[in-house]
Amino acid sequence: MPDSLGESFVTADLFSLEGKSALVTGGSSGLGLIMAKGLLQNGVKVIIASRSKEKCDEALASLNEFGDCRAIAADVTKASERKLLVEFAKKEFGSLSILINNAGANWGAKLEDYPDDGFAKVMDTNINAVFSLSRDMTPLLQEASSSSDPSRIINIGSMDGIHVPIVQRVPTFAYSASKAALHHLTRTMAVDLASRNITVNAVAPGFFASKMTDYVFENFKDDIEDDCPLHRVGKPAEIVGIINYLASRAGAYTNGTVIPVDGGTSISKGRREWTD
Ligand SMILES: NC(=O)c1ccc[n+]([C@@H]2O[C@H](COP(=O)([O-])OP(=O)(O)OC[C@H]3O[C@@H](n4cnc5c(N)ncnc54)[C@H](OP(=O)(O)O)[C@@H]3O)[C@@H](O)[C@H]2O)c1
Repeated sequence: MPDSLGESFVTADLFSLEGKSALVTGGSSGLGLIMAKGLLQNGVKVIIASRSKEKCDEALASLNEFGDCRAIAADVTKASERKLLVEFAKKEFGSLSILINNAGANWGAKLEDYPDDGFAKVMDTNINAVFSLSRDMTPLLQEASSSSDPSRIINIGSMDGIHVPIVQRVPTFAYSASKAALHHLTRTMAVDLASRNITVNAVAPGFFASKMTDYVFENFKDDIEDDCPLHRVGKPAEIVGIINYLASRAGAYTNGTVIPVDGGTSISKGRREWTD
């Protein structure tokens, strides 16, 4: 029998995450909370982190029933708090198999009103902090990695880093630039960290319900759905599914990619009539 036929391709084996450990930044709400739940339900020990202790405590209380979860309040844009995060992960788990850089910020304003500090805050959170935290977590990720089961860094980018954002009535200059930069950082870090058995990939979501999208959903939900070839926004399971793939044996050879999960929005011009 050829070797390949001795291996299990059963979904439960191929996509198993059992025994892994993960840190999800921005895990106290929105997509981060959903990813944390998905990981916990699949046997991963999870640390969630965000700035607000209150939000972390609340999220932890709701996640505890799904598995082994811990929480720490930490601002990823501050070096001293990233240090706390690394020390916490080391104390709790000893090593780390999955780092999900999900914490993110946005700022929407017309060009004339777009403030320098708003632009800087978005860049600090969405790109600078991802680089710094990934660098600082590398020793712990390396500790958990092997050539057959690399550790994984998964960056949460955006379809807005692929195309020019659709909801142009609220321009988000810094956000789309930061996400495009994050996609490219993903590629450069993937090449650099491969020799340490750490893969780096990005997921580029389209629109999903969260605090970040409250405003646009309230005001432009019809436009958003019109612009998506599937005519709808994303569902939580569709984010969990891609994270599970990237973190599992099935995703071990996927490296340096940016995977859109946006119903085809970023490659479409939308379904509205051209005369609209
Ligand atoms: N929802 C979408 O449609 C969508 C689409 C594309 C991409 N994304 C990306 O998905 C990620 C999650 O966004 P979301 O939609 O779930 O928004 P969200 O509900 O507002 O969640 C953002 C999370 O990040 C945390 N956070 C923000 N700044 C932080 C900092 N400096 N340090 C640590 N944690 C911080 C927030 O908690 P605290 O306030 O407690 O810090 C919160 O837990 C972001 O990177 C976003 O760009 C979302």
